[in-house]
Amino acid sequence: MKKIYINTSKPYEILLDFGSLPKIAETIKEKIGGKKIVIVSDSKVFKLYGDIVVEALSKSGYKVFNFVFNSGEENKTMSTYQKIVNFLSEHQLSREDILLSLGGGVVGDVSGFAAATYKRGINWVQVPTSLIAMVDSSIGGKVAVNLPQGKNLLGDFYQPSLVFIDYNVLATLPTKEFRNGMGEVIKYSLLDENLNNRLKSMPAIDKIIERCIAIKKYLVEKDEFDKKERRVLNLGHTIGHSIESASNYKIPHGYAVALGLYLISKISLDMGIMPEEYFIDLTTTLKKYGFSLEIPYNSATLMKYITSDKKAGTKGLNLILPKTHSKVMLAFKTFDNFKVMLENALLNQSETMEHLSKKPINNTCNNTNNTSNKNTYYQSCSDLWEAFHES
Ligand SMILES: NC(=O)c1ccc[n+]([C@@H]2O[C@H](COP(=O)([O-])OP(=O)(O)OC[C@H]3O[C@@H](n4cnc5c(N)ncnc54)[C@H](O)[C@@H]3O)[C@@H](O)[C@H]2O)c1
Repeated sequence: MKKIYINTSKPYEILLDFGSLPKIAETIKEKIGGKKIVIVSDSKVFKLYGDIVVEALSKSGYKVFNFVFNSGEENKTMSTYQKIVNFLSEHQLSREDILLSLGGGVVGDVSGFAAATYKRGINWVQVPTSLIAMVDSSIGGKVAVNLPQGKNLLGDFYQPSLVFIDYNVLATLPTKEFRNGMGEVIKYSLLDENLNNRLKSMPAIDKIIERCIAIKKYLVEKDEFDKKERRVLNLGHTIGHSIESASNYKIPHGYAVALGLYLISKISLDMGIMPEEYFIDLTTTLKKYGFSLEIPYNSATLMKYITSDKKAGTKGLNLILPKTHSKVMLAFKTFDNFKVMLENALLNQSETMEHLSKKPINNTCNNTNNTSNKNTYYQSCSDLWEAFHES
């Protein structure tokens, strides 16, 4: 079993393997202990993997209780959160007991918020089952629920006690959900040349997941509470969240992030920050993994959500602008300025597509870090963050 150690204020391990789910109980017993476990899962995932986990834990002597809610982003709410904490309380979980999240990012985010707040924090084990959850949401301790006003508006930082990944569960993940995860993977590829190069061939998924975790580990350990370096992980997310919210969550997170990456890169290209070859490279990758680049909303609709994004200030927002693979820039823009940039990026969309279709595809992009050595990331991204301010 592969181990990745996350050295945050509360350190924890990520354990990764193929077919490890039936052995989960031994690991939890050895690393955490406790007597009772509440499994929180969604209806789809529990049907597929609930029995395996319940049986393994019960055989090991745990008292197991299941809380299962309907799958979907529309259930990442205060109401689901409230029901989970009531359930923990009814079953008299102590702080030594465990909440185990079995599912994708929705299950992890809402149940993690319950784990963080019930009795001011109980043991929390994440068993991510979607690609998004494996590469992103299960690591780094961001937990949240959505409010009617916007996404993830109520949340906390709360690190799990253990993350347990069995790659085999991806076999049942529908293609649409796999692509959803690829939206976040492509975001990472804008921060890392090595990953960007791997995506050009048909990469082994375990290697892709490990690489994404290595990038997130680096950023989370440097900046656990999202004050500086970690913010690069929000690349494409301000626009992405606005698309997600405007669609009332009908456009899933990863698809919205893919559109957000496309638009923020177009803005960066228009500002003369991202060289055209990198922009072409990004659009090629997005298309290769099946993303449509049609934006179904106008700038006025998107701005309504962008101005209430939790990362926005009162006058404007700090943009994370992609520059080259492994370099981004930070630039402050007033809402009025940003609206004009967004309008331009959207207006010229059909021209951009036509222009791109005439360009020869250069898949190499001046790689300087073209190596398969995983540790290279730690050296190469020290210059990842290049901040500059401009109003
Ligand atoms: N906390 C963070 O740092 C962070 C980071 C990125 C995304 N997120 C959040 O994660 C959420 C998106 O995550 P998601 O895409 O995993 O959503 P999700 O949990 O809704 O899962 C997507 C769908 O896939 C199904 N599914 C999951 N695993 C499966 C499997 N192995 N087999 C079959 N079906 C399976 C689920 O039932 C659901 O229908 C969003 O709410 C987003 O805001 C959080």
